[in-house]
Amino acid sequence: MEEINMCGIIAYTGKTQAVDMLLAGLFHLEYRGYDSSGIAVLGKNKIELRKKKGKVEELKKSILCHPLPKSTIGIGHTRWATHGVPNEINCHPHQIGNITLVHNGIIENYKTLKNSLEKQGYVFVSDTDSEVAAACLDACYKEERHALKAMAKAYQLLEGSFAFAILFEDHKEAIYAMRKHSPLVIGHGEDENFVASDISAFLQFSKKFITLQHEELAEIKKDNVHVYNLELKEIFKEPEISLLDANSVQKNNYDHFMLKEIHEEPQVVMDTIHSIMPNDVSDLSNAFPNLEKFNNIHIVGCGSAMYAGMVAKYMMEQYVRIRCECYCASEYRYQTPTYDENTLAVFISQSGETADTLAALRKVKEYGVKTYAIVNVIGSALSKEADHVIYTQAGKEVSVATTKAYCSQLCILSLMTIHLALLHNKLSSEDLKEIKEELSLLPDYIEKMIDYPYYETLAQQISTHDNVFFIGRGIDYILSLEGSLKLKEISYIHSEAYPAGELKHGTISLIEDKTPVIALVNEERLYEKTMSNIKEVKARGANVLLFVKDMRNISEDVYDECFLLPSLSKFLQGIVSIVPLQMLAYTCAKQRGCEIDQPRNLAKSVTVE
Ligand code: AGP
Repeated sequence: MEEINMCGIIAYTGKTQAVDMLLAGLFHLEYRGYDSSGIAVLGKNKIELRKKKGKVEELKKSILCHPLPKSTIGIGHTRWATHGVPNEINCHPHQIGNITLVHNGIIENYKTLKNSLEKQGYVFVSDTDSEVAAACLDACYKEERHALKAMAKAYQLLEGSFAFAILFEDHKEAIYAMRKHSPLVIGHGEDENFVASDISAFLQFSKKFITLQHEELAEIKKDNVHVYNLELKEIFKEPEISLLDANSVQKNNYDHFMLKEIHEEPQVVMDTIHSIMPNDVSDLSNAFPNLEKFNNIHIVGCGSAMYAGMVAKYMMEQYVRIRCECYCASEYRYQTPTYDENTLAVFISQSGETADTLAALRKVKEYGVKTYAIVNVIGSALSKEADHVIYTQAGKEVSVATTKAYCSQLCILSLMTIHLALLHNKLSSEDLKEIKEELSLLPDYIEKMIDYPYYETLAQQISTHDNVFFIGRGIDYILSLEGSLKLKEISYIHSEAYPAGELKHGTISLIEDKTPVIALVNEERLYEKTMSNIKEVKARGANVLLFVKDMRNISEDVYDECFLLPSLSKFLQGIVSIVPLQMLAYTCAKQRGCEIDQPRNLAKSVTVE
């Protein structure tokens, strides 16, 4: 079962100081988890460690104050805690006997192994499963007195998921690596080689890599790499060249990856449309094969991916009149919705590795349900296990809060809905004409949203408050859910998104003088209704930030700030209307001095339940 835990592994052997290369790699891996980090280098006489709670910057400062010995070989790790609180004892690398290792994954039988190893005299200082893995490997090494044989033996004893980079005290010229479910790649440089959880850790030094597979062991020296199976038979693996460019893992002249990635949205949307629709909008059957066979669509995801799915559900039901349900993956995996041969399950995931979404996909496949996956990371578990994969063209998304990938998901889902509408003859000729005209204009509309000059002013209405409300009806409520999540995730402001008509059934009691209320009004047919809800909160002292498509007969006393949205086809409106909410959340977080790219307690992909 492909489960990866979100920690970051980097290892280096070569011509340069290992400390510098390991820290550079850890900074690129920090999006995977960042509650603590550490490195180990092979000194003249022994392996020396340095570990630090907090961001990688703290580790770097510690090493600057108390340098490690010069060395050209070492391993490093940045952690998102699963077993044991984030502290310097539980932080990796873990060292026991001859072994020093870093681990990504979950050892499911660590308790049984720990009891047995304690009986052999091993003493543990941390609460982690990773330290138990180090002891298990050390015990195997004591028996085999051979690094690869010990690894092969330990491989069979360890249950669950793991990726290891290992240093053996008495093998001073090599790094060792092995994996089961958790990913591990080996980078080939000039007189230097790397091991990492993902290629972004060494992309600026080398684009040439091999992917270590299950039941493979690797011995990595500075001028050669050897891979073996568990019987220690050597395996030749053809190196690949990464298509990612080093620039995609650099902030360039942006203050944060999130801002950079929002600015990439016009290009991402253009690339997504071209990839899904190489010719004309009336021919989308390649992107969405056999869609005509289904009249019951389940859309499944977590967080923003789920909210993207909710937009699609709304459009499919309103504009195509077919049954469509959107589920939160962590619920769906434990429910038994009604499936039949006309059911299609669509799984949405930027990372393609979210544990709940993966588990939900595996569940429906047991019932023989056909599956689509809408995924950003090429080769991720979800992309391999669905019947049909549609890639968002967002490129590497580093910021934990998704923006460009979410927009790309909306793009794909809009085109999927348009295709369904055509299949079910629910699209008028003027609708189709409008869509064709506007698809090519989407990047320009997004650009205009990004370049709006007054986000600082809008954000000042919010960033000093601890509670903010979003209200809207129809698609505006669903977009508000995503806008609210963005704000919560990166600015730590508590916010709620509410159906505008629902506020008066309780929550309006929370509205007091100056309470910020963000009101989204895209749905023209619900315009009057929403305006009356806005007047209800305004009458109770709310500070209303109105996002509306036209200012027709809106009296000034209904809002405090107003943002004019462009008016687009109902199939495309959401892709553009979400951008100001992303920019607003970003600007609020910046005004509050928040971390933004790596919010506390979060990781880029939640690969544990
Ligand atoms: C989005 O900003 C959040 N980081 C989070 O809700 C995310 O969308 C969710 O964890 C799903 O991740 P996935 O798309 O990689 O499956």
